Amino acid sequence: MAGSRAPRVEADGQSIAFRVNGRAVLVSSSPLQRLSRVLREELGLTGTKVGCDAGDCGACTVLLDGDPVCACLVATGQVEGCEVTTVEGLADTNVGARLQQAFLTHGAAQCGACTPGMLIAATALLDRNSTPHENEVMDAIGGVLCRCTGYRKIIAAILDAAIKNAGVEDTASAAPTAISPAAGAAVGKRLVRLDGKQKVDGSEIFGADETPASALAVRAIRSPYHRARFHFGDLAAFVRDHPGIDAVFTAKDVPGKNCYGVISKFADQPVFAEGEARHRGEAIAALVGETAAVEALETADFPVSWEELPPLGDIDAALATGARLIHENRPGNILVRGRVVRGDVDKALDAADVVVDAEYETGFIEHAYIEPEAGFAQRVGDQIEIQACTQSPYMDRSDIAAILGIAPERVRIIPTAVGGGFGSKLDLSVQPFLAVAAWHLGKPMRMVYSRTESIVSTTKRHPARMRLRGGCSKEGKLLALDFAADFNTGAYSSWGPTVSARVPVHASGPYYVPHYRALTRAVHTNLVPAGAFRGFGVPQAAIAQEQLYDELADRVGIDRLEFRILNALDEHTPTVTGQVLGAGVGIRACLEALRPKWQTARRDAAEFNSNATGALRRGVGVAGMWYGCGNTSLPNPSTVRIGLKRNGRIALHQGAVDIGQGSNTIVTQICADALGAPIERFDLLSGDTSITPDCGKTSASRQTLVTGKAAQMAGEKLRRGMLKLAGACDCATILFNDGGVTVRDGDKSHVLALRDLPLDNYGYVITSEATFDPPTSPLDENGQGVPYAVFGFGAHMAEIEVDTELGTVRVLKVTAAHDVGRAINPTLIEGQIEGGVAQGLGMALMEEFFPGKGENLHDYLIPSAGDIPPVESILIEDPSPIGPFGAKGIGEQAVIPTAPAILSALHDAVGIRLRRIPATPDRVRAAILALQKGEAHG
Ligand code: FES
Ligand code: FES
Repeated sequence: MAGSRAPRVEADGQSIAFRVNGRAVLVSSSPLQRLSRVLREELGLTGTKVGCDAGDCGACTVLLDGDPVCACLVATGQVEGCEVTTVEGLADTNVGARLQQAFLTHGAAQCGACTPGMLIAATALLDRNSTPHENEVMDAIGGVLCRCTGYRKIIAAILDAAIKNAGVEDTASAAPTAISPAAGAAVGKRLVRLDGKQKVDGSEIFGADETPASALAVRAIRSPYHRARFHFGDLAAFVRDHPGIDAVFTAKDVPGKNCYGVISKFADQPVFAEGEARHRGEAIAALVGETAAVEALETADFPVSWEELPPLGDIDAALATGARLIHENRPGNILVRGRVVRGDVDKALDAADVVVDAEYETGFIEHAYIEPEAGFAQRVGDQIEIQACTQSPYMDRSDIAAILGIAPERVRIIPTAVGGGFGSKLDLSVQPFLAVAAWHLGKPMRMVYSRTESIVSTTKRHPARMRLRGGCSKEGKLLALDFAADFNTGAYSSWGPTVSARVPVHASGPYYVPHYRALTRAVHTNLVPAGAFRGFGVPQAAIAQEQLYDELADRVGIDRLEFRILNALDEHTPTVTGQVLGAGVGIRACLEALRPKWQTARRDAAEFNSNATGALRRGVGVAGMWYGCGNTSLPNPSTVRIGLKRNGRIALHQGAVDIGQGSNTIVTQICADALGAPIERFDLLSGDTSITPDCGKTSASRQTLVTGKAAQMAGEKLRRGMLKLAGACDCATILFNDGGVTVRDGDKSHVLALRDLPLDNYGYVITSEATFDPPTSPLDENGQGVPYAVFGFGAHMAEIEVDTELGTVRVLKVTAAHDVGRAINPTLIEGQIEGGVAQGLGMALMEEFFPGKGENLHDYLIPSAGDIPPVESILIEDPSPIGPFGAKGIGEQAVIPTAPAILSALHDAVGIRLRRIPATPDRVRAAILALQKGEAHG
């Protein structure tokens, strides 16, 4: 650590008067300061979010004299004498209050990071147009990005609020209403999310929203090169010469191991690089000091010299004979291989009536959650406390303990609300820097990533290069699939081993493939680490396998949907790992649910095309999906604790982090019905490692299944405990009446005198704890075994329109059928499906990240409201015998079939099959021209 600071910088502010939410305020600030900054940090109005600081995301939208503006682009001097309205002021207005309620009832807020901006943009619309058309709503929110919802529920909520505000009854609307179900009847209800209110009133605390007043700022110094050696200059002199800078930390200041990773066996990522940076954006040092001084520092002033070195920039370079090793212990730059083999693929392909070969390639995809990584840390005695956005508090605890060289029990992780994660916030981001700095200096530390910092340094979806060969009989029965894929895992391992293991299990799709070989490799390059992103590589594989099946169906002259129905897995057919699921295999039901819509859509598209005289052509595509819930053949238990309090309320300690998907609500619904208590009786304690048991990470679509099951078991156990306390039989009824609990057993009633009963070690009258770990088995050397206890299934149908002259693709509608086992909360499930469709659409048509280019939300495009078509969700309930009340996961399942369905529709519309995804207009147009010239395009 380099320390010993110079005198402090004086603030340069002046008084600016304006009104906020009807209240006069006087702030002392530079007139050039961003309004968003002043609102959040001087006025404490943290409901206004900052997602980019560049006018790209709209999260900071406020009303300025009634007009929506991006507060990050408004200089505070400009608002002198004006009226500013933020989300905190909406409840005081009719329109704002109706919108907030409509967002709750429609499930329009998931993570909630975009919600304030959305509400403000909608308020501005309804203030000037009380009965807008859907297109006007889409225009009004077009500048506010949402990565979770897929916008459809937001649009529905705004239209609903408009109708209610205009005093018109909407008799045709099927809008869900806030329901408070009776005891034992919560499962299956469209319950408003329990953490919804704070998301619509601006009081939700995200990573950047709370920090001790005395906190110092932390800023990482990062490599500008994909690969470079570096040497520090005189760091002590640098600190001495820079007023406001307290210290600089580097690798030698890491008290424990300068190494972490989400899978401990493969941990390889340093907090600070030592001597050589392996990817652009890798941290080499951290500055600590007063916020103004830290922010004002020019990177060029930092004393480091760089020697740029030639990087291994892609998979080919990394695999080339004699290529330099990025990690000495990983020969050939191969992090890990995956393998599933069943039957005799070569022989079966030789015998097949039809064989198709194909290659597909996908690029990096950025998670683009609206909340950049942020948090604070403080040393409390011999403990460290870190409050930050995370999907995996207990994993963070282990890694931070190792980094600081202390026991895990001395690390407390307090998750904030998470403004979107989708897998990337499973990995550490701000936490190690905060921990090292707070540990050494004994002062609170705060760190907030800029959008660019978030994009350059955090994990991405793996680029994939996939080669396939598949064969079927002339009757259309799948006989064999030979699949090989390389995944560019970047400079560090992150979730590369998981992608390599999961993809071979899933690359068959949800079909019976008797002869199968799937081989994968995760390959290191000098690029940003690739990690978890909704599906762990399965969405990439689905693009390849589903289009291959389309080609086989076309070759044997069978309708593409019927081909899938013909080959769909059932309860008795073995999967490619030899697992016979026995029950809960809903893929055929999903595909059959699409059949009538498929036939109509195909007829309509054919009619449109036969009458078309211009450039537009239509097509329809379909794709199936399956996805194993939870870790692949590894333990992944969740433990839930509930306690009966003396006031008759139930404390639910569940550590599943709700990243917007709704686990806070779903887990409570499950627990409530298992116990037989009304939802209102529950006090939810979530995430904090000091007060909740470990519920594992929020990933792999496991929280409904695993934590939900643990909550069900804990609820049932508490019920038994309460009945025992009352001396009642198992069939007795527990009544949670005003302030108390009564057990009714036949004609006898027993009032539990809770206030008189002793408390246990947890401080409850009765505590119940349960652990659930899905039953799986290790896979053998050929990948045979039981990788997952439960699979979710689904199928999407996409209807699209292609402009053959511009190469643009417009998705007209997506119909999504999903077997969710049991729909615990249909509104939340639809939200997952619609959000998954939006991400799948982005993956198919627009999203590709190139390290070193477009590291912002202006150049990296994600779908906005105008890009998303209507989504019709069809919920199939083929119950899992294992899941709570039969439920299965849905989070990752929802994204997998959309891209292949759209790409299938693209081929259906214009006859092209793109081998490189996404299907951007330039690629689509080039492929159409090539096809017209007679060059091969599928
Ligand atoms: S934070 Fe202002 S537009 Fe993104
Ligand atoms: S709810 Fe819109 S970004 Fe999460």
